[in-house]
Amino acid sequence: MVLPIGRLRPNRPNTVTQVSSAPAISGKVVPMGTYCVTGAASGIGEATKRRLERDGHRVIGVDLRNAEVEADLGTDAGRRHTIDRVLELSGGVLHGLVPAAGITGVPESVVSINFFGVMALVNGFHDALARAGGAGIVFISSNSTILTPGLTRDHAAFYLGHLDDEAACRSYFADKGFLAYPAGKLALSYWARAHSVQPEWIGRGIKVNAVAPGLTDTGMTRPLLAVPEAKASVEAIPVPLGRWATPDEIASVIALLLSNDTCILGQTIIIDGGTDAVIQPTSHPNPLGG
Ligand SMILES: NC(=O)c1ccc[n+]([C@@H]2O[C@H](COP(=O)([O-])OP(=O)(O)OC[C@H]3O[C@@H](n4cnc5c(N)ncnc54)[C@H](O)[C@@H]3O)[C@@H](O)[C@H]2O)c1
Repeated sequence: MVLPIGRLRPNRPNTVTQVSSAPAISGKVVPMGTYCVTGAASGIGEATKRRLERDGHRVIGVDLRNAEVEADLGTDAGRRHTIDRVLELSGGVLHGLVPAAGITGVPESVVSINFFGVMALVNGFHDALARAGGAGIVFISSNSTILTPGLTRDHAAFYLGHLDDEAACRSYFADKGFLAYPAGKLALSYWARAHSVQPEWIGRGIKVNAVAPGLTDTGMTRPLLAVPEAKASVEAIPVPLGRWATPDEIASVIALLLSNDTCILGQTIIIDGGTDAVIQPTSHPNPLGG
């Protein structure tokens, strides 16, 4: 079916043959898209997949297991398999990418999965996203970027200065413990900000943004409560809202950023129940005059 979607997707050509009729949600016809979500078997990725499907879209999930595409995004072979298989399943047209797969733990694995696993897919799907004529990428950053003692912009700069040198990043972060995690998330946020406005991205109709969740109730965080030391440091984080986020609450912001209902571009939306606001009340917006 051919739908005139100029009004619905301003960046799109006047007609798109890929669009099929989809459920009317709140009285509005939403064009169905095809999305790739990694980490789709658990937590934020799983909630995002469910949310997009509920909105009438098709989602190709990627994860180590229990997903349409099963692959290890920490390896070249797993990334290659993911790119090939998703392009095959989507017919080479993607309306969005949510690279949510991630871990905490061994720094070298954090570097490979959380940063290089994401970048490989962003590059591998660039043309498929552009072909949609209006698409989105939402990175999963983290509010650890504003909470981690000792983390500096230089740590993120190391990632961004070595986009083609995964081995150098693995080696640089190997003795830096947890820093590999927030540094990689900061690098994703900076990458989104810098690239979103470039002709290669928004010029090809691809909106790039990030979300930075605070403590969210998932398979990643729940085990922390069983370790007394980790539990104590988690409980020391101020959350004025008074509770952790649910994966669905993160997914709803991701769905908004992927939709045509917003012109948000290049932003990292912190979703942390007020932690950032209470710790750095005047950090944002940052006036040019200082
Ligand atoms: N939960 C939080 O509080 C929180 C806060 C900030 C950011 N995040 C980020 O959100 C994202 C999702 O995490 P979550 O909390 O939903 O955790 P989760 O553990 O529930 O889900 C992560 C998923 O990623 C998959 N995964 C891990 N390694 C993989 C690999 N090598 N290849 C393919 N898939 C792999 C896992 O199998 C799992 O299904 C991560 O990037 C994480 O860093 C989480």
